[in-house]
Amino acid sequence: MTDTLYALLAIAVVLTVVSVLVPLAERFRLPHTVLLAIAGMGMGFLGSWIIAGGLRLGVFTDAFIGLDKLEVGTELFLPLFLPPLLFTAGLTIDVRRLMDEIHAVLLLAIVAVLVCIACVAGVVHLATGMDIVVCLLLGAVVSTTDPAAVIGIFRDVGAPKRLSILAEGESLLNDAVAIAAFGLFMGILVARASTDGSGMPADPTSAIAVFLREFVGGLVLGFSMARIAIMILPRLGESDAAIASVTVSLCYLSFIIADKYIHVSGVVAVVMAALTIAAYGPTHLHPRQWTALRQVWAQLEFWANCLIFVLASMVAADVLLKITWLYVWGVLAVAIGAFAARALVVFGMLPVLEGFRLVQPVNRRYKAILVWGGLRGAVTIVLAMVAAGNEQLPEPVRDFIAISAVLFVLFTLFVNATTLGLVMHLFGLDKLSRLELALRDRVLALSRVNVEKHLQQIIRQHNERTDGFAVDPASAGDPSVEPVPPELALDLEERVKIGLVTLCTREKELYLELFEQQILSRRMVAVLAANADRLIDTVRDKGAKGYEQWLEEISRPDRGFRFALWLHRRFGFERMLTDRLADRFEILMVSLSVLSELTTFNANSIADLLGHDAEASLAAVIGNRQRGVEGALRALSLQYPGYSESVQQRQLERAAIRYEGAEYIRRLHEGIISREVYNDLRDKLAERRGAVSQRPPLDLGLELQAMIGRVSLFAGLDQHTIVEVGKRLRALVAFPGETIIKVGGPPDAMYFVAAGEVTVHTKTIVVTLKEGDFFGEMGLLSAQPRNADVVASGYTHLLVLYRRDFNKLLAGRPEVRAAVEKVAAQRVAANRAEPAR
Ligand code: CMP
Repeated sequence: MTDTLYALLAIAVVLTVVSVLVPLAERFRLPHTVLLAIAGMGMGFLGSWIIAGGLRLGVFTDAFIGLDKLEVGTELFLPLFLPPLLFTAGLTIDVRRLMDEIHAVLLLAIVAVLVCIACVAGVVHLATGMDIVVCLLLGAVVSTTDPAAVIGIFRDVGAPKRLSILAEGESLLNDAVAIAAFGLFMGILVARASTDGSGMPADPTSAIAVFLREFVGGLVLGFSMARIAIMILPRLGESDAAIASVTVSLCYLSFIIADKYIHVSGVVAVVMAALTIAAYGPTHLHPRQWTALRQVWAQLEFWANCLIFVLASMVAADVLLKITWLYVWGVLAVAIGAFAARALVVFGMLPVLEGFRLVQPVNRRYKAILVWGGLRGAVTIVLAMVAAGNEQLPEPVRDFIAISAVLFVLFTLFVNATTLGLVMHLFGLDKLSRLELALRDRVLALSRVNVEKHLQQIIRQHNERTDGFAVDPASAGDPSVEPVPPELALDLEERVKIGLVTLCTREKELYLELFEQQILSRRMVAVLAANADRLIDTVRDKGAKGYEQWLEEISRPDRGFRFALWLHRRFGFERMLTDRLADRFEILMVSLSVLSELTTFNANSIADLLGHDAEASLAAVIGNRQRGVEGALRALSLQYPGYSESVQQRQLERAAIRYEGAEYIRRLHEGIISREVYNDLRDKLAERRGAVSQRPPLDLGLELQAMIGRVSLFAGLDQHTIVEVGKRLRALVAFPGETIIKVGGPPDAMYFVAAGEVTVHTKTIVVTLKEGDFFGEMGLLSAQPRNADVVASGYTHLLVLYRRDFNKLLAGRPEVRAAVEKVAAQRVAANRAEPAR
C-alpha cells in the first residue's frame, strides 16, 4: 500500500472516531476536544501495542500504521492546519462588535501574551533550571487561548454578548502576537544552535523593528488580498462552491505569499484577511451564501481541530510511557505560570480598563470564568509540533517544549474544562439562566395548549365528515391543561426583561427579513442588526432602564455625524454629511416600520407568554421609542423636505415591488399565469428593483434654496443673490419648546423661519411668528442685548445669519437693510404700546 493510501485510511479512521465522540461530548456538556484527547491517547497506546506486537488485523493494523506515518509529518502541521484555524476564528467574529471593544481586546491580547510569556518562563526556569530562552519559547507556545469553552458557557448562562466578543477577540489577536513571539524566540535559539551556543540573541531594537515590519506588512497584505477577493465574490453568481473556493485560496495564498514571497507575517495576513471578509462579506453576499460560506469554514476548522487533537494526543501517549520528573515539574510550572498570568491580567488589568471606561464593568463571576476557562487548544499544539519538528534545535529542547506544551493542553482539558461546570455552579452562574428556563417552560406549556386546540378542531371536522363514527374530542388530549399563570413564576420586572430581549431578537430578525426582501441595503442591515445585538446585551445587563438609556444614547448624533457636520460647516465638504444624513433617514424610516410590526407582535404573542401586565409595560416602552423616532424623523423631514419626499417615495415603490412579486408567485402557483409570463413579469420587476436600489441624491444646496424661497424678505432677490445669501445662511432645526433666543442674551445672529412657528415673549406681549418671518434683527441693528424670549412652538426649521454675514449682506443690499429696519421699527413701537387688556 502506498503512503497516500495509508494516510487516507488513517484520516478516515480518525473521522469515524470523531463522529461518535462529538455527540457524546455534547451530551456530557464537555468541549469535544476533551474526548478527542482521551480517544487520541487510547489510540496511541493501542497503536504502539498493535504495531510493536506485530499483530495482523488487516485494515485495523494498516490504519494504525497510517496514523504512525502521519505523525511524522510535523512540518505539515503549521502550513496545513494553522491558516484554516485562524481564518475561521476571524471569519466567525462579529467585526462591528469587535471594533466596539477593540481597545480592551488589543490591550488584553497583547498584554496577556506578554504577561503569560514572562510568568511561564520565570516559573519554569525556577522549577526546572532550563535555559531562559527555551522557557520564553515555551511561554509563547502556551500563551494562545482557545475561547470555545468559555464562549459556550457564556452562551449557556446568558452572559452579555460583549463578553464572548472579548474572549473571542482576545484569543484571535493573541494567537497573532504569540505566534510572532514564537518566531522571535525560535530565531534566537536557531541562531545560537548554528553558532554552537556562542551566538548572541538578536539586537532587541532591530528585533522589534523586524517584528513591527512583519506585523504591519501582514496587516496590509491580508487586507489588500481580501479586498480583491471581495471584489471577485459577488461576480461568482449563485455558486456557493466557487465562493468557498475563493476564500480557501485566499486563506492559503495570503499565508504563503506573506511568509515566502514578501517576508511579512503570514499569520497576521491570514487573520487580517479573515477579518476583512467578515466585515465586508455579509454586505456583499446574499445572506444564504454567507451562511453557506460560514458552514464550509466551520467544517474545515472542525476537521483541522479534530485531526490535530487526535494526532497530538497519540504523540502524548507515546511520551507518557517515558515521562520523567523534568516534564512533570515542567507541566506544573507552566500551569502555575499560565494561570497566575491570566488571573493577573483579568483581575489586575481589566479593572484598570474599566476605570478608564475603555471597557464596561465585567461581573466578578464572569472574570473568574475567564480565568479558569483559559483553555489551550489546537494552536498551542501546532506550535509545539513545529518546535518539535525543527531539526536545528537540540533534541532535549525540542522534546521539552513539545511535551510540556502538549501535556499542558491536556491538563487544561482534563482539569479546567471538566470543572468549569462546577465553577459555574459555585458562583451561582447556572442560576442566571433561570429566566431563560422559565421562558422555555412557558413556551412549552403554550404550544401544548395550541396543539390540543388544533387536535380538537381536526377531530371535530372528522366527526362532521364521518357523521356517526364520532371520536370523542376530549380523548385526544388533556384539555384541562392550562398555562401556568406567569405571575407565579416571575415578577413583573423579570418578565418585562425577558419580553424586551424577545422583542429585540424579533427586531433583528425583521431587519434580516427586510434585507432578504431587498428592502434594506446591505450596509444598513449590518448597522441595524449590530445595534439590535447591542441592545440585547444592554437589556440583559440593566433591563428596561438599560433599554431607555441606550435609546437616548443613539438618538443623539454620533461622533461621525458631528464630524461630518463640522467638515461641512468649516470646509464645505458635503459628501460625508449627505451620506450620514441619508443613512439616518433610512435608519429612522426602517425603525419606524419595524417598530409598528413589533407593536403587533407584542400584542399578539407576548400577553400569552408573559402576562397582560408585562405586555402593557412593553407596549409603553415601544410607544416611547416610536414617538422618539417619529420626532427625529419629523425634524429631519422638516430640515430636508425635498429629500424626505423622494426617500419616502422610494420606500413606497420598494414595498409595491415586494407586494407585486409575492402576487406573481401566488398567481403562478395557482396556475393562473404560465411560467413564461411569470418569468417576463419577474424580469420587469427586477429592472424596477434595480432602479430604486440607488438612494436618491441629497443636494444640500437645493434644500437650502427651497427654504430661502419661503422667506419673504428674500423674495425680490435674483437667483444669483439667492445663491450668495445661501452661502451665508445655516440651516437649524429647533425642537418643540426650545428657547432659541433668551432675554438679555448676546446679539450674535438673526433667524428666518423657513417652516413651523415660534412665539416671541416680551415683557408686555406674546407674538407668534410664522413661515417667512424673521427675528433677532433688533439686537443686531442696535447692538443691544436681546429684548425678548423666542421659543419654538413645534419642530421649527430656521435659517441662521450670523452677525458678520448680516453686516456684509446689509452693506451690499440697501433695500434689504431698509426692509429689516422697517420691521424692527414696527416691533419697537408695538413693544412700547400699552399691553392689551
Ligand atoms: P432681539 O432683541 O435681537 O431678540 C429678541 C427678538 O424678538 C427681537 O430681536 C425681535 O426680532 C423679536 N421681537 C421682539 N419684539 C417683538 C414683537 N413685538 N413682535 C415680533 N417680534 C418681536
